[in-house]
Amino acid sequence: MPSISTVTITLLAALSSVGNAALSRVTDFGSNPTKLEMNIWVPSKLATKPAIILALHTCGGTGEAYSSMTKYGTSADQKGFIVIFPTTKKDSNCWEVNTTKGLSREAGGDNQGLANMIKYTIQKYDADASKVFVTGASSGCMMTNVMMATYPDLFAAASCYSGVAAGCLAGSPGASPGSADPTCANGKVIKSAEEWTRTAKAMYPGYNGTYPRLATWHGVADNLVFYPNFGEQLKQWSGLLGVSFTRNETNKPQSGYTKMIYGDGTKLVGYSAAGVGHIVPVHPTDDLAWFGL
Ligand SMILES: *[C@@H]1O[C@H](CO)[C@@H](O)[C@H](O)[C@H]1NC(C)=O
Ligand SMILES: *[C@@H]1O[C@H](CO)[C@@H](O)[C@H](O)[C@H]1NC(C)=O
Ligand SMILES: *[C@@H]1O[C@H](CO)[C@@H](O)[C@H](O)[C@H]1NC(C)=O
Repeated sequence: MPSISTVTITLLAALSSVGNAALSRVTDFGSNPTKLEMNIWVPSKLATKPAIILALHTCGGTGEAYSSMTKYGTSADQKGFIVIFPTTKKDSNCWEVNTTKGLSREAGGDNQGLANMIKYTIQKYDADASKVFVTGASSGCMMTNVMMATYPDLFAAASCYSGVAAGCLAGSPGASPGSADPTCANGKVIKSAEEWTRTAKAMYPGYNGTYPRLATWHGVADNLVFYPNFGEQLKQWSGLLGVSFTRNETNKPQSGYTKMIYGDGTKLVGYSAAGVGHIVPVHPTDDLAWFGL
């Protein structure tokens, strides 16, 4: 009879291999100007007209690691939606949120490759183009803001953890903690809602459709991507979504967190997490509820 520890190890190995079974690599998804890797989680029982979530890793991360960290795949298996977990390998695996091409549409940045992953997935799996979502943590949250600003027509909603407003790192010599101009992460890029709105709109000039809904989370004690970046994101999206702060709900969704409601709370909410540093733990259940999945 095997010892308990052997059983435990075998069980853990089995669980982790089950966990990754649905994640596979796609190489032919279309133009990929910055050589991103596309990993896709397609549940064996796919819903008809499935929804899609694009889930963006932190600096130093990978799509595979973000899949393990967030557990969106487990929910995908239950509900039949698809998750794309891409990887960037440049600049310490940080997303391109600083360059002119990366902050423009169809201009050869990471955002263009990510948009093509979505277009490919909609086509290949006959997915519901009105149910495409984006989420991410840290650098992935910065990129979430950039995707929403440069490809607002692709996404219905977004959630993100511990990032910055779209355009905060524009012109910085890099996008990683080691290479970036620290002004943005330090919470020193402060603009009015009108200025942030103009910054984002300049990334897709002439766009006259609606912008995706956003739920953004930030730790008050963040000492890497400082807390003022939360307020700057809320200013930017309150301008783009045309909603202003209405009220707070304290201890939502858990003790110490404050849910900040804009308008009627269907387009923009912020979650301010007291005593929480970098990064706010991903809340997959709240994300799925926000997406309506
Ligand atoms: C942005 O960061 C990249 C590395 O990620 C770097 O190559 C580039 O020079 C940076 N700055 C600008 C303004 O493009
Ligand atoms: C703006 O709206 C017009 C009229 O509905 C449309 O033809 C045009 O393509 C839109 N522009 C963009 C950039 O979406
Ligand atoms: C709402 O909550 C935030 C985060 O705790 C706080 O900064 C802000 O002052 C609160 N606003 C009101 C009106 O209570």
